[in-house]
Amino acid sequence: MADALGIGIIGCGTISRTYLELAPRFSGLDIRACADLNRKAAEERASEFGLRAETVHDLLLADDIELIVNLTVPDAHYMVSHEILAHGKHVYSEKPLALSLREGQALSDYAKKKKKLVGCAPDTFLGGAHQTARQVVDDGLIGDILGGTCHVMSHGMEAWHPNPDFFYKPGGGPILDLGPYYIACLLNLIGPVKRVTAMTSTPFRSRTIGHGSRKGERIDVETPTTIHAILEFQNGATVTLTASWDVWAHGHAPMELYGTKGSMFVPDPNFFGGEVRLADRAGAIRTLNGADHPFSAANIEDNGVQRANYRAAGLADMAQSVLSGGGFRCSLDRALHAVDVMVSILKSGETGSFVDIEHPTTRPEALGAAEAALLLR
Ligand SMILES: NC(=O)c1ccc[n+]([C@@H]2O[C@H](COP(=O)([O-])OP(=O)(O)OC[C@H]3O[C@@H](n4cnc5c(N)ncnc54)[C@H](O)[C@@H]3O)[C@@H](O)[C@H]2O)c1
Repeated sequence: MADALGIGIIGCGTISRTYLELAPRFSGLDIRACADLNRKAAEERASEFGLRAETVHDLLLADDIELIVNLTVPDAHYMVSHEILAHGKHVYSEKPLALSLREGQALSDYAKKKKKLVGCAPDTFLGGAHQTARQVVDDGLIGDILGGTCHVMSHGMEAWHPNPDFFYKPGGGPILDLGPYYIACLLNLIGPVKRVTAMTSTPFRSRTIGHGSRKGERIDVETPTTIHAILEFQNGATVTLTASWDVWAHGHAPMELYGTKGSMFVPDPNFFGGEVRLADRAGAIRTLNGADHPFSAANIEDNGVQRANYRAAGLADMAQSVLSGGGFRCSLDRALHAVDVMVSILKSGETGSFVDIEHPTTRPEALGAAEAALLLR
């Protein structure tokens, strides 16, 4: 049996560099080629990381590629993933998996027909911080989770991203773009969602690109940019999720969960590391830094800050499943549940009604320190 999977990448934009920098640190991943609609983007990434630059067509046909990572923009995810499956290869997609439950279900049915696996980001819930939080829940340290609050708020993406259009089109917006991190984290800690309700708004109808060669160009905003949602979980917990790109500053924590025996303050689910803080019934605070988990260790410098970044951990977990069998955590069913939750939040914002979540899923297995270490080279 091969000890590494031949992998290709379609979509050579901003996030492809992160995957290409971090993937070599994981076992089982051998990224060999990349492709993009924009041939120059593929050639640049290929020469930077010593890969073959292919056309999308040739990459889909390449004999040495068993899995393709789909790093295209959200509204191309479904079509590109479907093409990858059609060419008999496994898919690992960036989030969101698809832009509707119907599309996601069609992808799931097609993957079963083709007997291929589909995995999907985010994998930040596999980070040391979030697996430490998971251990807290599993050890009963805060008792049963009754509720919580999540806040992900800023003034959007046009200040730093050179092509921020997709953030403001259907498939973008703070719920479909950042919601996956929060929903995956909540699924890891609490379990599946039962129903949602929300109010949404779009206060700014256009945005101005602030960076790169298109600086000064305006983008029409075609999706809600402020969302106040409430998620009811199957275990009865109710969690408020506020996601906005209309906020210059705020003082809220990313995630707080309230249990029968105490509270837990969870660091930003968009990142792998950070401190988990626990409060007991008396309010005494204990800090856990997750130091014994390998995915807590700072391994990159980001604007002068040392951070833990283990992006590609979910891909490595899936690669083990392709190579040796067994399940993997960033699964299609979990991604499809997240799509259902996110589009239902937007639907509730339009209709003013509660929306039941249709796509069932399960909590992922915890990724303990020893198992995480095995995913690293
Ligand atoms: N940028 C980030 O920090 C970040 C972080 C996490 C996840 N993501 C996710 O990764 C995905 C890509 O984001 P990005 O920031 O790299 O975007 P990007 O716009 O920088 O790059 C996307 C690339 O995909 C190519 N592309 C688009 N449609 C294609 C198609 N049909 N076939 C082949 N190539 C195609 C584009 O030419 C472009 O080079 C998005 O889903 C985003 O949500 C991005």
